[in-house]
Amino acid sequence: MKLLTIESTCDETAAAVIGDDLEVLSSVVASQDELHEQFHGVVPEIAARAHLERILPVIDETLRRANITADQLDAVAVANTPGLAGSLLVGLVAAKTLCATLDIPLVAINHLHAHIYACQLATGRSVFPCVGMIVSGGHSNLYRCDSAHDFTPLGGTIDDAAGEAFDKVASMLGLPYPGGPAISKAAADGDPKAYQFPRSFLKDEQRLDFSFSGLKTAVRYAIVGPGKHDFSQIELAEKQVQDIAASFQEAVVDCLVGKAMLALKKTGLKRLCVGGGVAANGRLRERLQLAAEAESVELEIAPLKLCTDNAVMGAIAVEKFEAGQIEPLDLDVYPGLVRT
Ligand code: KG4
Ligand code: ZN
Repeated sequence: MKLLTIESTCDETAAAVIGDDLEVLSSVVASQDELHEQFHGVVPEIAARAHLERILPVIDETLRRANITADQLDAVAVANTPGLAGSLLVGLVAAKTLCATLDIPLVAINHLHAHIYACQLATGRSVFPCVGMIVSGGHSNLYRCDSAHDFTPLGGTIDDAAGEAFDKVASMLGLPYPGGPAISKAAADGDPKAYQFPRSFLKDEQRLDFSFSGLKTAVRYAIVGPGKHDFSQIELAEKQVQDIAASFQEAVVDCLVGKAMLALKKTGLKRLCVGGGVAANGRLRERLQLAAEAESVELEIAPLKLCTDNAVMGAIAVEKFEAGQIEPLDLDVYPGLVRT
């Protein structure tokens, strides 16, 4: 079997070829970080245009690295939900065109399900049922996951996603985009107790939700002073940047770890799977490990190279392909999450 998987939900243009027994025959990721850096966040129109320029070269390179030609493909799978509408469309149209011209089946991928499936790919055995936590630039969600495709929402962010908060706080601190890795690096030399930032809902045992906008505001006030918004006159010392980064990161990590553990308690499940770009955060990984050990819970975190967006996690489509769950060629994109 040779399945081409395509990922273009946000700002990475990616493709992979998955072979028998989920072997990854090739994987290519073209990041757009340099295009969005000056805006400190993803600009949807720029992302869609860049996907359009990159999608065919990325697919060509993916096939070349797998040492195959397009006519050797058995099917094409594409992430069509959730994500940015323009970005999703580029991947979907590329996938449909290949399927139409090669007369092969089209398989749909739910991008969030794929982020959790990255944990299964890493372990090589079933990770279901589990509590799934997806922490990325667009999502901070907790699910009960009964199978790779059967997710029940337990909670999520009511405002910013964790990754978005990392990106915005990095911008306030004058750190580069994407903010996650930059904050993590600055935090390594900072004091996580230097600033007392809020941990929304953390003590509320009834809710499995997150809120990071208050935390963002608290960081803003720590930098410019209460009620003020102008950053232009502010020059932060390196130590101040490090301390704010460390204190902010600790607050986010406290919330993510706390709610993940609460979700396990509420569902009675004994396995936690974590995926998405923010799952690459070293401090989060360390704290999850400690909490899982303390609660005797099995923990699977996506390996680093499968945390941020990639097409390898699209291997989730193999099961669907083998079960004959094929999509018609008028398949659409669903930018908002389709609850399946
Ligand atoms: O999963 P992803 O590649 O894209 C979405 O589906 O959103 O996640 C990107 C997000 C960005 O907000 C980025 O700042 C964050 O993941 N991120 C991190 C780290 N690496 C990437 N956040 C915290 N620590 C990191 N090491
Ligand atoms: Zn993602």
